[in-house]
Amino acid sequence: MEPLLELKNIHAGYGEFRVLHGVDMVVNPGEIVAVIGPNGAGKTTLLKTIMGLTTLYEGRVLFNKHDLTKTSPDRRVKAGLVLVPEGRGLFPNLTVRENLLLGAYTINSRSEVEERLKTVYELFPRLKERENQRAGSLSGGEAQMLAIARGLMSNPKLLMLDEPSLGLAPKIVAEVFEVIKKLRVEKNITILLVEQHVKESLELADRAYIIQGGRIIASGKSEELRNLEELRRIYLAV
Ligand SMILES: Nc1ncnc2c1ncn2[C@@H]1O[C@H](COP(=O)(O)OP(=O)(O)O)[C@@H](O)[C@H]1O
Ligand SMILES: [Mg+2]
Repeated sequence: MEPLLELKNIHAGYGEFRVLHGVDMVVNPGEIVAVIGPNGAGKTTLLKTIMGLTTLYEGRVLFNKHDLTKTSPDRRVKAGLVLVPEGRGLFPNLTVRENLLLGAYTINSRSEVEERLKTVYELFPRLKERENQRAGSLSGGEAQMLAIARGLMSNPKLLMLDEPSLGLAPKIVAEVFEVIKKLRVEKNITILLVEQHVKESLELADRAYIIQGGRIIASGKSEELRNLEELRRIYLAV
């Protein structure tokens, strides 16, 4: 099977500040792939690099048979990439519906936008109920659902989620992870998930990459990684 996303020898960072030092990664169609690593490892930088939002010194980003290495972020969205950023990036003073419409900025057809709205409201009925409410008035879990729903408005092939569980109570984290599972099963969306919750993300994902200091230090099927010594060293020793 041809990969949906392939990263080849990615060296990236911010201006002179290098963060990623030769990252290789593959995401196959239909997979849920987790990127796990401690604070400051370069997880967010990796997702931003896939979107074209960092300085790329070396390496290639291949997506859906196209080389996007030099493609602008908005064209990457058009090509089917979406990033749901860390901290969600919602506009608290805009309504739920207005936030969703911002996620559809790459779609010109009015009827297609309506169609997308309908689809995400079916997935998230609670957002429909709160359509005209300010995003800032939502609970943490609802806000995360809105952030994901906004990402879905551009009809992505690959949905990238940066720490969707951040700041949520365990019960709500479980709900968010259920939604991610459902997206894969019902909507056939491929997912690249960045997380610090090691155990839960390995249960959810098919495969995972462990990143530390801007390098992939381990990768494999989730069940193989569950017992990995490195994971224990990074997470349980601190
Ligand atoms: N906009 C930025 N400008 C400069 N350095 C940054 C920026 N964002 C993150 N960094 C640095 O890049 C490194 C990796 O950060 P990040 O990718 O956010 O890690 P993670 O998401 O794994 O916690 C850190 O040393 C961080 O301070
Ligand atoms: Mg981060």
